Amino acid sequence: MQEKTIRKVPFYKPSLDEAEIEAVRSTLIDGWITTGPKAKKFEAEMAAYTGSKYALAVNSCTAALHLALAAAGIKRGDKVITTAYTFAASVETIIYCGARPVLVDIDPATLNIDPLQVAEKMDKKTKALVTVDIAGLPCDYDSLRPLAAKKKLFLLADAAHSLGASYKGVKVGRLADATAFSFYSTKNLTTGEGGMLVTDDRKLHERAAILSLHGMSKDAWKRYTSEGSWYYEIVAAGFKYNLSDLQASLGLAQLGKFPKLQERRRYLAELYDRYLAPYLDMLELPPRNGHSEHAWHMYLIRLKPKVLKIGRDELLRRLVAFGIGTSVHFIPVHLHPFYRKFLGHKPADFPNALATFKRIFTPPFYPAMSDGDVEYVCSKLGEILKANYKPSMVPAGTKKKAELVG
Ligand SMILES: Cc1ncc(COP(=O)(O)O)c(C=O)c1O
Repeated sequence: MQEKTIRKVPFYKPSLDEAEIEAVRSTLIDGWITTGPKAKKFEAEMAAYTGSKYALAVNSCTAALHLALAAAGIKRGDKVITTAYTFAASVETIIYCGARPVLVDIDPATLNIDPLQVAEKMDKKTKALVTVDIAGLPCDYDSLRPLAAKKKLFLLADAAHSLGASYKGVKVGRLADATAFSFYSTKNLTTGEGGMLVTDDRKLHERAAILSLHGMSKDAWKRYTSEGSWYYEIVAAGFKYNLSDLQASLGLAQLGKFPKLQERRRYLAELYDRYLAPYLDMLELPPRNGHSEHAWHMYLIRLKPKVLKIGRDELLRRLVAFGIGTSVHFIPVHLHPFYRKFLGHKPADFPNALATFKRIFTPPFYPAMSDGDVEYVCSKLGEILKANYKPSMVPAGTKKKAELVG
């Protein structure tokens, strides 16, 4: 009988062990399960980790993005620039504030927002710029910061992917006026669901903190403790975005092991690079540069369709048949029915985002993967690519150009 070679490599598995179980257990025993001392401790530790003055724990990165824009005074009639190549949260939070998102195409070399095109889209109504560090690679902040400063734009970093990254030696968290992190279950640090807004701006932090809990006056979370008082005032129409102590205790345990988790991500990225090196005619490795420390949230692979007989979708079906979980990051925002209609865009309006989307995919990538898992994923991917390699599809003399376009 032939040996079965199917191995299950799920798309994602969180790195949770006794440390998280013990942290949640002690919070349950302690009995304070909503926002309280653990959330405050998590905020203090995240502020220290990112080198920020203030941190606000919330229940998602989406909430952190919304609060930051609202606290910065973004309102109806304003325009906010962001990338077309991101998850919906970076854009919908602009609409929550009544403002209009203005999408910008990416630099295909980095997959991040193209600063030259940001400059072209800025006008008198532009009040903020939301950058997204795709897959954990920081944006070109040396170009983006002066652009924002010149027009006094609020610079908000959507760092859902980039906790732990740095740009020219400066940590993500210190590169923008405010930075939003995600602790969703697939993120580098997870609390199941959760997020954090960090900033050095005291006023922004205080406004965001008030808005995060119904618009209640300061420290309202203490109202059921012996320190607190039953009395509170509502000073704004706020939201219900607070992070519970159950989630914060998970976050504290994760933060304790975060440097190790990041080290493993860096190692796995190198391992993928090594195993995929024989296939560089057929695919491109993830973008990176010499001056950023990558957070390696995802390992994004781009196919070179001109030399392949199968497309991305068929390739993913075949990987799934080998027990390998995959995904696609991202379907550009302007291709979604709502945004197509709301913003009136056509697919070709952002050609770099569109071309990237058609040939990109995300293989499994997380610290709990074994070296053998990475080898298995790469060998199955390699088998499929080799069986479908068609160098002759590229007319003679055009190979160089085809490689550039991919
Ligand atoms: C770029 C980006 N921004 C924001 C978010 C939203 O994060 P959350 O689920 O914590 O709200 C995500 C989620 O995956 C994301 O990928």
